[in-house]
Amino acid sequence: MSVGIWGIGSYVPENRVTNDDLAQRMDTSDEWIKSRTGIEARHLADDSEATSDLAYMAALRALENAQIDAQEIDLILVATVTPDQPFPTVANALQHRLGATKAASMDVSAACAGFMYAVITGSQFVQTEVYKHVLVIGVEKLSKIIDWEDRTTAVLFGDGAGAVVLGPVAEGRGILSFELGSDGSGGKYLSQQGAHLQMNGREVFKFAVRQMGESAVNVLKKAGLTKEDVDFLIPHQANIRIMEAARERLQLPEEKMSKTIHMYGNTSAASIPLSLDYELQQGKVKDGDLLVMVGFGGGLTWGAIALRWGK
Ligand code: ACO
Repeated sequence: MSVGIWGIGSYVPENRVTNDDLAQRMDTSDEWIKSRTGIEARHLADDSEATSDLAYMAALRALENAQIDAQEIDLILVATVTPDQPFPTVANALQHRLGATKAASMDVSAACAGFMYAVITGSQFVQTEVYKHVLVIGVEKLSKIIDWEDRTTAVLFGDGAGAVVLGPVAEGRGILSFELGSDGSGGKYLSQQGAHLQMNGREVFKFAVRQMGESAVNVLKKAGLTKEDVDFLIPHQANIRIMEAARERLQLPEEKMSKTIHMYGNTSAASIPLSLDYELQQGKVKDGDLLVMVGFGGGLTWGAIALRWGK
């Protein structure tokens, strides 16, 4: 059984914060942030919007796009490291709020690679025909764990959500191959200590440059494909320089890589579905296109998927 994406939706909070806005509250500049990261703005949720609210909006849009009712969802997986609280999970809250009366639900925690992990986990149930429809959401409200006194991390992150409905698709469509990995020895480089996120940016940078390209090449090989077959690369949006390194490894022209980091910053588990939804809306991804999605994050964790778009 082939498994693919039936529908997709995304959501970012209304409040858009530019680099200049941040420069008014900390010692930084638009020039520094843009040249080092590619970020120009990010959307931040306020106290009135919880992680589950962002996830709910993206989920509604994905269900509508997939043209299925919440009652047809068998499983809800939410990838996040910023849940409303440790439990009940965001997935639990959504199950009730969406009226997904027959759905099982759980959160998946793999930092910025969380969406890749959740999609692959969900797809196993569809592939084995245990379940038919799985709702997968990547969502973060990183603003609540950012240390706003630490300019080295505060400028990098944003809030948002992206959701997909997985279901059976025609042979040759959907997920063709995947790779998931982790290296717990790198836990010290990116973690939440107490209330705040802490990062050794340089170490994460080195790891990410190596891993993104490597994983992208690996999934192509597993699917029996080559770099020349790739129509669109959707990398985790953490830093434009890391993304460019992955693009160069695949020898793709600029227009074949999704870039939303300038608008949203790093939204962790939400960044890949947010970007995919954006590119679909721009008409950049077409039926039959070969997509490579690749993410990395704290843990360290990583994941990549080669997917033929369409049902
Ligand atoms: N504004 C102005 N200056 C700053 C800022 C800022 N916001 N932040 C740091 N600086 C200064 C530093 O203090 C340093 O000054 P110094 O030379 O006087 O000491 C200088 O800028 C250079 O700092 P570096 O840390 O060396 O800058 P670098 O070029 O390495 O860029 C960055 C830092 C953007 C964090 C980069 O290392 C990076 O992107 N790393 C990867 C991060 C990443 O991908 N994280 C997400 C992982 S996904 C997840 O799971 C959440």
